Amino acid sequence: MSMLEPVHKVLQATGHDAIALVPGANFLRVFGKDFHQMERPLVVVVPKSGVPVAVVPNLELGSFAPIGFPGEVFDWRDEDGYMGAFKAAGAALPQLAKGARVGVEGQRMRVFDLLALQEVLSGVTFVDAHAAISAIRLCKTLEEIAALREAIKRSEVALEATLMQVKVGMTEKEVEAILLSELFRAGCDGLSFDPIVAAGDNAAKPHASARADYHIKAGDALLFDFGGRYNHFSADITRTFFVGHVSDHDLAFYDTVLAANTKGREISRPGMTASDVDDEVCKVLERSQFAAFKRHKTGHGLGLDVHEAPQIMRGNNQVLEPGMVFTIEPGLYRDGEAGVRIEDDVVVTENGIESLTMFPRELRVIG
Ligand code: GLY
Ligand code: MN
Ligand code: MN
Repeated sequence: MSMLEPVHKVLQATGHDAIALVPGANFLRVFGKDFHQMERPLVVVVPKSGVPVAVVPNLELGSFAPIGFPGEVFDWRDEDGYMGAFKAAGAALPQLAKGARVGVEGQRMRVFDLLALQEVLSGVTFVDAHAAISAIRLCKTLEEIAALREAIKRSEVALEATLMQVKVGMTEKEVEAILLSELFRAGCDGLSFDPIVAAGDNAAKPHASARADYHIKAGDALLFDFGGRYNHFSADITRTFFVGHVSDHDLAFYDTVLAANTKGREISRPGMTASDVDDEVCKVLERSQFAAFKRHKTGHGLGLDVHEAPQIMRGNNQVLEPGMVFTIEPGLYRDGEAGVRIEDDVVVTENGIESLTMFPRELRVIG
């Protein structure tokens, strides 16, 4: 099987004349290797018929060669600039004449990558084919699910080890440092994203940054949203704890989020739409006394990218299929006071879902 078969399927499905790829999750899925997105463009164009081309920075040639790219490679050196290589690549694609349509990754390709392509493929229309291209990653293989499982298992070990070290009076930054060290100690290859370690009022910001000047105090919520990577796949886990003690109000607040999370895990199954899942989960929050504190949708797909399709969101009529992986992460956020989010990573099975995250969800008071 040619490595380009998934791209040819996208070409067939979309009817486009070519697909352009840049480094990122789709590139990694197709070529088995990724490159850093930096100031040097690296772009591959796969036409419906004819020879694919790649524009590659000269210093990356040694890393690009092992891919076994089945096409022509045009490299460029820093001192020459990249337009010469783009022009040569454009000349090698005479089939992309006026009126041709090239699908690009709208959420990944940078403006200067696109401008370079536009300059050398004049008269060609570039269209956003992000959803169609990323669809090659929607259903995970058993091997991919095994990598996710491993990323999650190692991340959960790191979380437990971190909790054992948290003490009242530590700063969020100190706890973050412990978590980072434990993630690597647990054997993660890297981080899914910069972790969120947020206490007290900071936990009410869904995407907070750890503070060096905030000392965790008794009664605070302490929210961890984090994940380690393993074999390119990313865990994305949120658990919220209370430090020292928890008030009755916070307990009810927590239990409302837990009920929404439980609902999502109980009802999700193949054949349902992502919209239906979000609707059911959101209704738990919206019908509670805490409805005013809901801020976001239920979740997102998870894999090589931390946020990918399917978005678990009202209005997304994507039908769930076995092998899809997504997060169930309802949250409630009381500005200036506290926030709670409970996030699981689940895989769609033949008749429901399996939660890959196993870390207990019942309220836990720590420190
Ligand atoms: N962590 C919540 C969201 O990004 O939707
Ligand atoms: Mn998360
Ligand atoms: Mn998430």
